Parts: sequence; structure tokens; C-alpha cells
Amino acid sequence: PLGNLAPTPPMGWNSWNRFECNINEQLIRETADALVSSGMAAAGYKYVNIDDCWMASQRDGAGRLAADPARFPSGIKVLADYVHAKGLKLGIYSSAGSHTCQGRPASLYHEEVDARTWAEWGVDLLKYDNCGQQDGIPAKERYKRMGDALAKAGRPILYSICEWGQNQPWLWGAEVGGHLWRTTGDITDTWASVMDLLDQQVGLEAYSGPNKWNDPDMLEVGNPGLTRGESRAHMSLWSLLNAPLIAGNDLRSMDSWTRSALTDPDVLAVNQDWSGRQGAKLRDDGLTEVWSKKMSDGSVAVVLLNRSPETAVISTTAAALGLSGTSYTVKDLWSNTTRSSAGTVRAHVPSHDAAMFRITPGAAAGVPPLVTVEPVSPTP
Ligand code: GLA
Repeated sequence: PLGNLAPTPPMGWNSWNRFECNINEQLIRETADALVSSGMAAAGYKYVNIDDCWMASQRDGAGRLAADPARFPSGIKVLADYVHAKGLKLGIYSSAGSHTCQGRPASLYHEEVDARTWAEWGVDLLKYDNCGQQDGIPAKERYKRMGDALAKAGRPILYSICEWGQNQPWLWGAEVGGHLWRTTGDITDTWASVMDLLDQQVGLEAYSGPNKWNDPDMLEVGNPGLTRGESRAHMSLWSLLNAPLIAGNDLRSMDSWTRSALTDPDVLAVNQDWSGRQGAKLRDDGLTEVWSKKMSDGSVAVVLLNRSPETAVISTTAAALGLSGTSYTVKDLWSNTTRSSAGTVRAHVPSHDAAMFRITPGAAAGVPPLVTVEPVSPTP
């Protein structure tokens, strides 16, 4: 990859999931303001990423991409300056073809001029999509051309490969300069989509690591199609998978539940801890699953996932999680309660929801025993 720009999974916001093409510079400024005022920036969300539809329908007279004059009349550089003044970073979008997925001009054959333009504007991240005419040039070659151009552009730019997993980008994404690569098609704010993308992550664990993250797509946490329980499960699992955490909701109007779900320090600590492998599915009982991740301090993070339409009691054991010993401290990461356990971790998990724990060998003094953890908050 192009420099040590993503030693831990990058965190930020992107306009696509909530706003699609309905974007403008005011929205981007207000989102940057909200990142700071909500505490999300302090929690680690630094990138403000403008997705498709920022560019004018034609290149300018010098052959450069230009901002859409109606949506971004002040231009991208002014926006980058605004975002930087808040201690944040600006991300932008293009495609490795003739056009973006929304038919705007894109970067195939224009890699060097576009990379230089973005560097001059002060752009910090490029999400590079896979739409438009490609003249039969293989994906790896098209993505390498941009990786090479970014390397020469004169500014560190984090390179987010959005190839949808069609040509196994986990095998070549880092080699062409990428810091992360989408492993799947697009997420939507439905439970079926979140579960479908989750299922496609199994087996990719070995390809993930510092500066080379598997990307199961951006977050839908807080968007209207998910219940709170579904958002909690989504956040729990994406954190465990060391996914880039790119919020996709309207930060200007989110409720305090959503803000807490996006900024929970214990959950984010699981995401940001690299202990050698991203979290993985440990057990699959059909409608219930156990996912776990070894943490670098010797503890284990675990997600108990309920995909069924009914509440389920889901359990695992310290031994199954690879821990040895006779007593454990179990922290429920969503409710912040801590219990002791002789080895069993068990929770009542509501339908379409997840419980998330961190299990540390050794009993903490004065901590009551864990019997069964009740649901931490009702889903509306
Ligand atoms: C593709 C990408 C999405 C989004 C849209 C924009 O579908 O996968 O994440 O960037 O294009 O048009």
C-alpha cells in the first residue's frame, strides 16, 4: 500500500448510503461539523468522504475533473480546507472506467492528471469504483494504474478499492497500492443485506491486516431500514471483522442511541485492535451464530448473533473461544456491565440482534457471577 495510512481500520463517513446523488457542499460542511460536535471525530471517525456525483458532467478545458458547479460551487479545495481546519480528512470518489456508476466522467486513461488534481486540492482518500467502459482491461491492471498515479501525486492519499469482490481483490489489492478493498456488492439498509454481506466474509480473514483491510461495505447503522437491534448487530459484527467503519447515516439529525452505537468505546476498541487476524465465525447453528476475535491483550471478543425471528438463548464457552483457566471476567460491551464466569457466556438475544462481550481470563474482584445476560435494550 501507499504508505502507512491505515495501520488500523479507517473510520469516517461517506455520503452514498444515505444521500446517494443528493449531495452538495453545504451537506459536506454540516457533516464535518456534526462529526466534531457529536464526538464521533474524537472517537476516531476522521474521513469525510464525498461519493459519486460530485463532478461536473464534463472535464474542464485542461482535461481535469471539475466539481459540479451547482452542487459544489466553491470547489473541492475550499471544502478540503474547511474539513482540514476541523482536524478531519477529505475523501473523494472516481471509477476505473470511462464513467462513474452514475454516469459522471471517471478516471480510466486519466489516472495521473486526476491523482495530481486531487493532491492539489488536498484530498486524503480516494474511493475508486468499477463502473464505466473498461476496454477489456483487467481489474488488477486498472486499479494498479491508479495506485501508481497516487504514488506519484505528491500527497499521501488513502486508496479504497471498490471492485465489489468480483476479481478477488484481496489477492492483489495491497500489491496495487490499496489500503482496503470491497469484498462484495453494495450494502442496503435491510437486515437481509447485512446478513448476506456478513456471510460473504467467511474465508477472507487471512487477507486482512494493517494497511490491507477487507471492506464488507460502509455502515447502515442509524438508517431507516434497520431496527436498533439490527444496527447493533451490524456494528458489533463489522467491528469484530476489522472492517473500515465508514458511517452512512445523516449525522446532522441522528438520535443519541445511534450516536452511542457508533461511538461505543469498547466496541470500537475491538475494531481498532490488530492481534493478527480479523474476527471469524466460530460456530454456526443456522439461525444463531457465534463470532469471535482474539484481542492482543489475551482476551477474546465475542458476538452472539440471532438471525431468527424469535428471541434465542445463545451461549459459548471460554474453552471454545480458545481461553484456558477456571475463572473469567466477562464485560458486556453494549450495556457496560461486568460479571464473573466459570467459563460459560450466555445471553438472551432478541430477534435480529446481537450481544457482544469481551472475556478476559481471571476473575475481577467483587464482580457478581454471570448467570444469563438479559437483553440490554428493547428494539423498537
Ligand atoms: C457503486 C459502489 C457504491 C457507490 C455507488 C455510487 O455501486 O459500490 O458504494 O459508490 O457505486 O454510484
